[in-house]
Amino acid sequence: MVSFNYPPCYGTELTYIQQAIANRQICGDGPFTKKCNEWIEKRFNAQKAYLTTSCTSALDMALLLTSLNPGDEVILPSYTFSSTATAAVLCGARLVFVDIRPDTMNIDEKQIEDAITDRTKVILAMHYAGIACEMDTILSIAKAHNLLVVEDAAQGVMSSYKGRALGTIGDFGCYSFHETKNYSMGEGGALLIRDPANNERAEILREKGTNRSRFYRGQVDKYTWVDFGDSYLPSDMNAAYLWAQLEAADIINENRLRTHAIYMDAFSSLARQERIVLPTVPEGCVHNAHMFYIKCRDLEERQAYIRFMRDHDVQTVFHYVPLHSAPAGLKFGRFHGTDRYTTSESNRLVRLPIYYGIPDSDIEQVIKYTRQFFA
Ligand SMILES: Cc1ncc(COP(=O)(O)O)c(C=O)c1O
Repeated sequence: MVSFNYPPCYGTELTYIQQAIANRQICGDGPFTKKCNEWIEKRFNAQKAYLTTSCTSALDMALLLTSLNPGDEVILPSYTFSSTATAAVLCGARLVFVDIRPDTMNIDEKQIEDAITDRTKVILAMHYAGIACEMDTILSIAKAHNLLVVEDAAQGVMSSYKGRALGTIGDFGCYSFHETKNYSMGEGGALLIRDPANNERAEILREKGTNRSRFYRGQVDKYTWVDFGDSYLPSDMNAAYLWAQLEAADIINENRLRTHAIYMDAFSSLARQERIVLPTVPEGCVHNAHMFYIKCRDLEERQAYIRFMRDHDVQTVFHYVPLHSAPAGLKFGRFHGTDRYTTSESNRLVRLPIYYGIPDSDIEQVIKYTRQFFA
């Protein structure tokens, strides 16, 4: 079976996990967590990065840091993962879904302004497939209406927009290091913060509401409970696993980009014949080959393609069911404007196998059977 995904493993993970054990510090904020935080800050020019237990918890932290009040509104695409929305729900906010662009499957920046009310506080920009949203427009709308921007860059580690790393462009950025992502620690993520004024509150939130981080830095002589908080910091053993991959970030990235380029090339003639639609990377965007998807004619053709590939031992998968049509989406939000693309484009989309180290023979199988199906 050609697998859709294998969790990334570079080869040095066990050595670093053993080191974490030998360090006798396997809880949060040990040496490996610090190395990962610093690597992210330096590599992506981020003011501050904190590893978290997931992208979901990074999003929770980001939304809590925006100081949303119950009844405030958050604008987001409906074509995203539940975590993007559930962080806003945690703060009691209402979700206002807007349509996506068919070329990138990202929030349609042209639909945002019309969805703004006097309760709107935050725009949530999710970068689908590691390809950036139109951030200049989103930032200028946010500035004009005094809104904060949170980037869900779960899929965007190592991607950029006009030279800036995804996750560092808005007020807060959230990464995922889940096993399905380009770099992993099993379950994990990171919160990136632009304004240093938010650092201390983030540390308190992350450390169960205490000022323990200040205590570790010797800034207070004992630590105490100072505010609301939760436990958002991962074990240093998980950070050790991630460290192995951050050290090899370019090698992993190049390997994924190579697979992506092979698929693009192999399917270009099917796209020219308008049998399928291939992903678009707008000018100024550098992507990380997080995903390779194609779009079929419609839902029926997509299901037939997935079945055909499964019959030939190739695993291909569809993606998000739009949130506005999900039970929780109906409960916590509303769709503003027309659903011109969200439902129809998500119905057509199917993801092909791509992961670090995918064998060439597997790539060949994917290409062979895809060509056969669309012939
Ligand atoms: C866009 C998006 N945001 C958030 C998440 C949640 O990430 P995690 O599993 O690290 O919490 C995912 C997971 O796939 C995602 O695709």
